Amino acid sequence: MKQERTLGHIHIRPMTINDISEVTHLDQESFSLPWPQRAFENELLNPMARNWVVELSDEHQKAVVGSMILWIIIDEAHIATIALDKRYRRKGIAKVLLAHALLTAYDEGAICSLLEVRRSNKAALALYQSTGFYEVGVRKKYYSDNHEDALLMNLDKINPEFWHRILEEYIP
Ligand SMILES: CC(C)(COP(=O)(O)OP(=O)(O)OC[C@H]1O[C@@H](n2cnc3c(N)ncnc32)[C@H](O)[C@@H]1OP(=O)(O)O)[C@@H](O)C(=O)NCCC(=O)NCCS
Repeated sequence: MKQERTLGHIHIRPMTINDISEVTHLDQESFSLPWPQRAFENELLNPMARNWVVELSDEHQKAVVGSMILWIIIDEAHIATIALDKRYRRKGIAKVLLAHALLTAYDEGAICSLLEVRRSNKAALALYQSTGFYEVGVRKKYYSDNHEDALLMNLDKINPEFWHRILEEYIP
C-alpha cells in the first residue's frame, strides 16, 4: 500500500494530529456545514478511516491545501469528505487525491466506492461524474442548513488502470 505520493510540488501523505487545525480551517472555508475539529481528531483514531492531506511546498514554506477522508468498510470505499483550498482548485489536485485514496483502498481489498453529495454542488458532481461515479439514489432534504437533497453516487468497480492513468497524466 502506498502511503505517500509526490507529484511535482504536491505531496500526498497521511493526515496527522499536527494537521488538524489546518484541515479544520480548510473544511470551514469549503462547506456550509463544516465538521468540528473533534470529528477530524476522531477520524485519526478510527480504524476504518484513511485520512489524507495534500501538502504544497516550495523553498519557503509548506502548506496543507487539500484533505480527504475515506472509510473502508469491508469491500467498499466510502468517500466521507474531500476539500481543496479555493486558491488551488481546478488544477486537477482533487482528482489525483481521489486516485491516490481509491488505489490505496483497492490495495486493501475495496472493489467499489460510494458517496453523498449536495444536489447543487456542481463542481463535486462534475468531478465524480468525470471519474465514473453515477447517481443511484436521493436522500430527500438531507442537509440540515438548507434542507437540500443529498445525491447518492456509486462507482461499481475501482479500476486501478484508470486511476493510475490519472496520476500519470497529472501535470503539476
Ligand atoms: C469539489 C472539489 C473538491 C474539486 O476540487 P478541484 O481540485 O478543483 O477538482 P479538480 O481540479 O481535480 O477537477 C477535476 C474535474 O472535476 C470537474 N470540476 C471540478 N471543479 C469544477 C467546477 N467548478 N466546475 C465544473 N467542473 C468542475 C472537472 O471535470 C475537472 O476537470 P477539468 O478541470 O479538466 O475540467 C473542490 O471544488 C472543493 O473543495 N469544493 C468544496 C468542498 C466540496 O464540495 N467537496 C465535495 C464534497 S462531496
